[in-house]
Amino acid sequence: MSPSTFTVDPGGCLRGRLRVPGDKSISHRAIMFGALAEGVTTINGFLEGEDCLATLRAFRAMGVRIDGPDRGRVVVHGVGLHGLRAPAEPLDMGNSGTSMRLLAGLLAGQAFDTVLTGDASLTRRPMRRVTEPLARMGARIETAERGMAPLRIYGGQRLTGIDYTLPVASAQVKSCLLLAGLYADGVTRVTEPAPTRDHTERMLEGFGYPLRRESDRTFAVAGASRLRGTQIDIPADISSSAFFLVGASIAPGSDLLLEHVGVNPTRDGAIAILRLMGADIELLDSRLAGGEPVADLRVRHAPLRGVRIPEPLVPLAIDEFPALFIAAACAEGETVLTGAEELRVKESDRIQVMADGLAALGVSAAPAADGMTVRGGALAGGAVDSRGDHRIAMSFAIAALRAGGAIRIQDCANVNTSFPGFVASAREAGLAIRELID
Ligand code: S3P
Repeated sequence: MSPSTFTVDPGGCLRGRLRVPGDKSISHRAIMFGALAEGVTTINGFLEGEDCLATLRAFRAMGVRIDGPDRGRVVVHGVGLHGLRAPAEPLDMGNSGTSMRLLAGLLAGQAFDTVLTGDASLTRRPMRRVTEPLARMGARIETAERGMAPLRIYGGQRLTGIDYTLPVASAQVKSCLLLAGLYADGVTRVTEPAPTRDHTERMLEGFGYPLRRESDRTFAVAGASRLRGTQIDIPADISSSAFFLVGASIAPGSDLLLEHVGVNPTRDGAIAILRLMGADIELLDSRLAGGEPVADLRVRHAPLRGVRIPEPLVPLAIDEFPALFIAAACAEGETVLTGAEELRVKESDRIQVMADGLAALGVSAAPAADGMTVRGGALAGGAVDSRGDHRIAMSFAIAALRAGGAIRIQDCANVNTSFPGFVASAREAGLAIRELID
């Protein structure tokens, strides 16, 4: 991907209707489960972003026929749990933590060896959180130093189910172990410290695989059942919608309708936090689509106030904090986030990179090990480095709606990992954004 820079002129508001691209977490899983199923899976609303395309290419490299994507439609010709073939080369997961961590579990149960690699960001992210419990199940995985990728996964190992309590609230770790559990003898049981996104559990059920929900935080699978191909309708991604929820909330005159957004209760923390801050967000026509709750979201400008963010909401909004910090910068008073140390190991260190960017725009932001305190005030124009983090790039773009001057954001190419077409959608809604591709 060529390097890109965003320049956003200050002011304006967001109006009209918008459907943001499909949910990233669900798109990854639809390809994975479709590939492991027996029969054909038809997917609509697939996110054609780089992260999900990395997952798609990995399964093609393992012999799965996949038609598309064609305007969000993908047809996966499943090969069954034991039908994958050894890829000829290492599988490159690019920037995508979800691809690498979920595939690590699935590949630990195969008969062949694989190598999982990724870009500079992904090969610096912690992988022991998956390799350690997988090793307890009997997997053999070699890592680079300090447990990081590339991961060399040896096939032909016999996996045995374990009872595992996750040390961090992570849907990626939970999903990794449930996927390994499909290949294990006996029962694999995972307990999470707090509820996290449950798309894997919903999708296992949607593909007809027996899953035991033993409590709201404990899930169990036994190996050697089957997945049956199905149809999947992927809603618009609430994480991509969050930039517009914040943008419309902070910009006077805004009135925006975001269509067909996934509002799964394990993902809707940003709506709850923005409402606590005083945002005006309405859920219209709430419905179920393919086993996932969906609604149209109407958001209008409203004055925001700083809040202390309740810690139980943190895992439910984990990807939305870059955008929420912009809301905090535009709110009256102080916003305090704690219990969010996970933000330090996302695509970038999102606490430090957001604090640096806010400081460059004249906002007082005090980073802490597990969160940040942001004092609302006037945002100036200026230059910000997104450090290659897609969500940070989009968050500072939205900030220009309330800035005193233009905001220039460097290193924005990775916006294509989760939100291809962001610049066009944001312009259509009213943001004065230009992209310069070097
Ligand atoms: C994801 C889980 C979250 C999230 C990521 C997608 C998933 O990561 O940040 O963008 O699809 O399971 P963690 O499980 O590391 O919190």
